[in-house]
Amino acid sequence: MDTMEAIMTRKSVRAFKDQPVTDEQLEQIILAGTRAPSGLANEPWRFSIVKEETVKNNIAKLTKHTKVLEGASALICLFMDGEVGYDLVKDSNTIGACAENMLLAAHAMGLGAVWIAEIRKNKEQVALECGVDPERYDLMVVMPVGYSDESSEPTPRKRTLEDVIISRR
Ligand SMILES: Cc1cc2nc3c(=O)[nH]c(=O)nc-3n(C[C@H](O)[C@H](O)[C@H](O)COP(=O)(O)O)c2cc1C
Repeated sequence: MDTMEAIMTRKSVRAFKDQPVTDEQLEQIILAGTRAPSGLANEPWRFSIVKEETVKNNIAKLTKHTKVLEGASALICLFMDGEVGYDLVKDSNTIGACAENMLLAAHAMGLGAVWIAEIRKNKEQVALECGVDPERYDLMVVMPVGYSDESSEPTPRKRTLEDVIISRR
């Protein structure tokens, strides 16, 4: 799949088959995340891989998207390392670029994933479930990953190009 095809066909996946993903697949997704650009090349992304059923289900209870997390084969929790961050907006943008690389990589590998941010309301508890220091590692995204059990139709966009290009000079 070339880059444009991956971008145009990716969609958020919230229902998964009962088919496991491998450590190699999860690491490949994380590797793609680490190829994102970062401000000052500070690479503030840190990852926690959650495959254990008990931990996954504990984290699932910390969001309204319980079923989505429970149904996934694994979770990748994406943190920002407070010790290397330098500017909240720029570091957040960096993490966003990392997360999008991960979603695209998962899709290109035939997997489904979704960016869950609502769970940030319980970010300290998620960090503790992952066994990392919540004072240092700021949870940005939880990404459930698995084989999609949904239609592959991409989510339509509300706005056309003409709506979003606000000036041409
Ligand atoms: C910053 C951010 C936060 C998001 N948080 C959630 C979330 O908490 N729960 C969820 O189901 N989807 C979440 N999403 C996924 C969006 O709902 C989804 O990307 C959007 O509806 C467009 O659909 P698509 O990804 O299929 O194109 C989030 C996406 C982003 C970029």
